[in-house]
Amino acid sequence: MLPAEINKIIDIPDSQSKVPVKIIDAEFIYNFIKKNNLKKTLETGFAHGRSAAYIMAATNNTHIANDAFQEAEFKNVGLENIKKLGLIDLLDFRNELSHVMLPKLLADNRKFDFIFLDGDHKFDGEFIDFFYCDLMLEDKGYILLHDTWLRSTQYLIKYIEKNRKNYQRIQTPIKNICLFQKVGEYERNWLHFKEFITFRSFIKFHFVTWINKNNKNPIRILLFKLKNIIKGNK
Ligand SMILES: C[S@@+](CC[C@H](N)C(=O)[O-])C[C@H]1O[C@@H](n2cnc3c(N)ncnc32)[C@H](O)[C@@H]1O
Repeated sequence: MLPAEINKIIDIPDSQSKVPVKIIDAEFIYNFIKKNNLKKTLETGFAHGRSAAYIMAATNNTHIANDAFQEAEFKNVGLENIKKLGLIDLLDFRNELSHVMLPKLLADNRKFDFIFLDGDHKFDGEFIDFFYCDLMLEDKGYILLHDTWLRSTQYLIKYIEKNRKNYQRIQTPIKNICLFQKVGEYERNWLHFKEFITFRSFIKFHFVTWINKNNKNPIRILLFKLKNIIKGNK
């Protein structure tokens, strides 16, 4: 299955068009997994199954993904999409909250070489997901965080950078993701703690939410015009 075919087949209702990862993000994930020959994959937050489809297309291997709201919020559209793509036999879908699923996978001694976090985006939820995923990530494995525009994700990124020295951030051309590679184990003293407040993300987040709420604000219109001029768009 080639990435271009996935989007022709899957269904994403217009009212939920902002929920899945963007195609450019999904293509990055596909190419990254292929290039690094990653096979054992896990994802929190399945929704319409776009990221899951790209992951499975890249690995042709079993992929674990969860979504506690698949039926209630998404009317099982994600699972139907994966069936339509002919990838359902590769999907190990868990109809559970992440904080319920992840400790079970850990107890089963599961290990992964690529983990995509795109489930709960509240700070406590994301942090707990990271905590468990770190314990199941192979050495030299990768963890990818989605929605870096959120303050919660920015805090998690800063927490990892400041407090988990065995994670190396890998730069990517994609704005809304953050990729880390685990490099060995890191023993921390019980007194170890580094502050991870991020003032820049505070400003950025409030600016982005303000600008999205104020569609007709002249400052917003001017800023968009400037952005288009700088980017050379019409
Ligand atoms: C942004 S969407 C994921 C989009 C998906 N990766 C895609 O590309 O189609 C977030 C998903 O996480 C799910 N979710 C939110 N909180 C969760 C939790 N605590 N446990 C499991 N899933 C959760 C939501 O139901 C939703 O499906």
